[in-house]
Amino acid sequence: MRLAIISDIHGNSAALEAVLADISKRDVESIANLGDCFSGPLDAAGTAKMLAPLDLPTVRGNHDRQLIDRPIEKMGKWESWCIEDLALETLEWCRELPLIREVGGVLLCHATPSNDEENWLDRRGPEHRLVARDLKGVEERAAGVVHRMTACGHTHAPRSVRLPDGRRIVNPGSVGCPCYLDDRVQPNFVQETGSPDARYAIIEQLDDDWWVDLISVPYDAEGMARLAEAKSADNWAHALRTGWWS
Ligand SMILES: [Fe+2]
Repeated sequence: MRLAIISDIHGNSAALEAVLADISKRDVESIANLGDCFSGPLDAAGTAKMLAPLDLPTVRGNHDRQLIDRPIEKMGKWESWCIEDLALETLEWCRELPLIREVGGVLLCHATPSNDEENWLDRRGPEHRLVARDLKGVEERAAGVVHRMTACGHTHAPRSVRLPDGRRIVNPGSVGCPCYLDDRVQPNFVQETGSPDARYAIIEQLDDDWWVDLISVPYDAEGMARLAEAKSADNWAHALRTGWWS
């Protein structure tokens, strides 16, 4: 089983296009999507148009949920930027997405298997930055997981972790949003991948273990950066061009 894992597209259709083109050259059997598909100041409608015919096995991200669990006036900024661009059928699709699912023996979740917005492999660290979580914290959040391989997204930080008992947890990073400021919680924090590239992963089961390839795809982000600027999301534009928040 050779599986591509994509996550956190956040409406970046140019990055998604680049990732799908790269996947098409790599002899992959299936693609799984870990959610947060549309929210942000970019091309939500174009992203929906690309995803619909692919019919990928997908789990619901916190931002997919926040498009359908509250009235528009109570939505956060990332949803406010795109809600008007999304067709009703896309919102219905978000509503149907499960919190977890399994593909080829791999457990898929957005953040952790029981929570769509809890950071798993990373945590808020000093100086308002996201840092790697210690083993105890990662294991606690893996309680009850029987799968040898779990894929999670949410933090946008590409990681491949192996627990002492052999279970693996992979975060492919974000297809479309290389860094962000999370100011919904205090203290707030910044996650920076440090390059503007689109991220995804390919995992493959060989000889009773899993091989993990964290992949970084360069693409032309200028069109997306301009869409961000048109919605006065200048930090997003800078992030898309550089991979750094500031
Ligand atoms: Fe996300």
